[in-house]
Amino acid sequence: MPSTAVIGLQWGDEGKGKVIDSLAIDADLIVRFAGGNNAGHTVWVGTEKYVLHLIPGGILHAGKLNLIGRGVVVNLEALIEEIDGLKQRGVAVEERLRIDSRVHVIFPYHCQIDGLVETWRGEGRIGTTGRGIGPAYADKVSRTGIRLADILDRDTFEQRLHAALAEKNAVMSKVYGVEPEPYDDLFEKTRALAERLRPLVVDGGELARKAHQDGKRILFEGAQGAMLDLDAGTYPYVTSSWTGVAGIAGGAGFPPNRIDRSLAVTKAYCTRVGEGPFPSELKCAIGQRLRDQGNEYGATTGRPRRCGWFDALQARYACALNGLDGVFVTNLDVLSGFEEIQVCVAYRLADGSEVRDYPAELGKIDDIQPVFQTLPGWTEDITAATTLDDLPSACRDYVAFLEQQMRVPIVSLSVGPGRTQMFVCDSAQAPA
Ligand code: GDP
Ligand code: IMO
Ligand code: MG
Repeated sequence: MPSTAVIGLQWGDEGKGKVIDSLAIDADLIVRFAGGNNAGHTVWVGTEKYVLHLIPGGILHAGKLNLIGRGVVVNLEALIEEIDGLKQRGVAVEERLRIDSRVHVIFPYHCQIDGLVETWRGEGRIGTTGRGIGPAYADKVSRTGIRLADILDRDTFEQRLHAALAEKNAVMSKVYGVEPEPYDDLFEKTRALAERLRPLVVDGGELARKAHQDGKRILFEGAQGAMLDLDAGTYPYVTSSWTGVAGIAGGAGFPPNRIDRSLAVTKAYCTRVGEGPFPSELKCAIGQRLRDQGNEYGATTGRPRRCGWFDALQARYACALNGLDGVFVTNLDVLSGFEEIQVCVAYRLADGSEVRDYPAELGKIDDIQPVFQTLPGWTEDITAATTLDDLPSACRDYVAFLEQQMRVPIVSLSVGPGRTQMFVCDSAQAPA
């Protein structure tokens, strides 16, 4: 595993946390390259549950270095809270964590604006996590953002924060009619938070490139999912970063042609949090049953996740877009007990025509009807399975069908949230 990318194949929450934690055993450096504390990556270690938001998923392993890459937007308070929470649980965070000096920082005004803009959007709201992600990335692009390195230099920060607050406070008071943010409190508080992090701050791009030159094994950890990608996803119902393999070059400062293997994680069905198109969604008792059996509630906001059947068009599109070499399928156990299982294999458009490949423009979601293919279900509990042969034949057939639809080998199956409930799939040897 010289350098491996792992991304989410759907709309996030595919089980990336569990997969990264498991792959980290064979890695030296684990790098987050996008998103912020909108992410919630769950890892179970025995009966202990960890939910990581900003810290990469190799942090629970001794001897591994974890890097928050420059493409991540960092809420300093949230990061320190996460570090302290892990330290209290005995994790040697300082030894294992580094932060790129170029990360853009999320300020309280970004969170406030996130909420205000959502209110203004009304019916068209995105259903963001409210963590200030969009406004922070917007500032980065419009060149009014403030990086961790800027804060660590007192004079630079003074000048940057004055300029930023002059604009933000004018917008806040004149457009949204809310109280402006006082400069002094914010300046001193942010400086103190940044100083606490100073010992961990590095040139992350250089660290990753050097590690690669030295023959170290690097794991790039995606956040969110392919369909939440700013360019490739269901715009405008997306997040504000590049969530796919393409995001690694910019977000980690790592040459794209040095990524040796690209993998993705998908659930055996689909979920989505927030608003936006979801063609295979089940707004019925079956959707509720998936939510109950899969305990589908957001790891960051606790919101109930929208649930639906596996969408083959969406998955195939995301596989092709990211040039994938293999896919991890999680939550297969959640499907046990369904008499029959469906897979969305086409979309019926408003004019009655059917498409079998994901269309670039979904148009109005109400106009699209999913066309399902029905497969037989299985009743057996599969949570103790350790090989493909342990699975009931209907379950194996279902996995084979997903693989055939995605046209990418399924390399591993996950049959429960626990660390050990995952096994390499024999079909990994099958040609793509
Ligand atoms: P991430 O954001 O992609 O890391 O995924 P989340 O942690 O937000 O959500 C995935 C949820 O599914 C978590 O509660 C995991 O503990 C859980 N999970 C992961 N793999 C499996 C699995 O194979 N079966 C079941 N039942 N749950 C799983
Ligand atoms: P992980 O890494 C699921 C969704 C939000 C919203 C949209 C935009 O745990 O898979 P944002 O706050 O980013 O501006 O919200 O993106 N979203 C996620 N959904 N998992 C995530 O992360 C998500 N991060 C953002 O619900 O629809
Ligand atoms: Mg999540």
